[in-house]
Amino acid sequence: MRTFIHNDVQVLATQAADAIQEVLSSVEHPVLGLATGSSPLAIYQELITRHKNGLSFGAASAFTLDEYVGLPKGHPETYAQVIRNEFTAHVDIDDARVFSPDAFGTDVEGAPARYEDAIVGAGGIDIQILGIGSNGHIEFNEPGAARDSLTRIEELALRTRQDNARFFDSIEDVPTHAITQGLGTIARARQLVLIATGEGKADAVAALARGEFDPQWPATAVAQHPNLLVLLDEAAASRISG
Ligand code: F6R
Repeated sequence: MRTFIHNDVQVLATQAADAIQEVLSSVEHPVLGLATGSSPLAIYQELITRHKNGLSFGAASAFTLDEYVGLPKGHPETYAQVIRNEFTAHVDIDDARVFSPDAFGTDVEGAPARYEDAIVGAGGIDIQILGIGSNGHIEFNEPGAARDSLTRIEELALRTRQDNARFFDSIEDVPTHAITQGLGTIARARQLVLIATGEGKADAVAALARGEFDPQWPATAVAQHPNLLVLLDEAAASRISG
């Protein structure tokens, strides 16, 4: 795991965008893994700026990591919609090649397996952007998630729903379930870029930096990934020991 610490989030975003640009320029049909949440927003802004300056996403496909179950299709807080608004609508990626778990169709139960097949069919993820929850979740792999878990429907931890209540009128409106890529799915991406800022992430980041898988801190499932870049500000890095 390579760690880069800087207090200017723009500098962190530049590091991530450099890694993504390298994939776009070296892979014929690049496959991007996109995360939602607030942490990656600076990365998307940086990529949009680079697109305005000529960086093309025309050959790329993208897979989001998760989707709430229970929101109507098109709801502004569905992750399909959030990713569109925050990123993909502002670059030249083909909309038809931006994929999200289908939490809206008639067969929601079958959606996770179909999503796994779609990722494998696309050749796997070349570079995956990740955020991390204050409880150490990545995507909606909550504490206790199996290290080799695949895409599935998960019940959300109360703390995650509390964290995400800021996007809804009240916590009662936050869905209780989501389809999420599994820890095993995420670990199969060829490159991972995890971004975390703020003291609230410090315990989760410290667990990741210990480098051992600890089921209480799901993000530790990727700690031994051979190509993991972790971008932190000093607050998020403040409890890393050693
Ligand atoms: C990403 C996701 C979550 C967030 C995490 C951190 O698709 O669903 O794992 O990355 O909850 O969220 P923020 O960045 O808002 O602190």
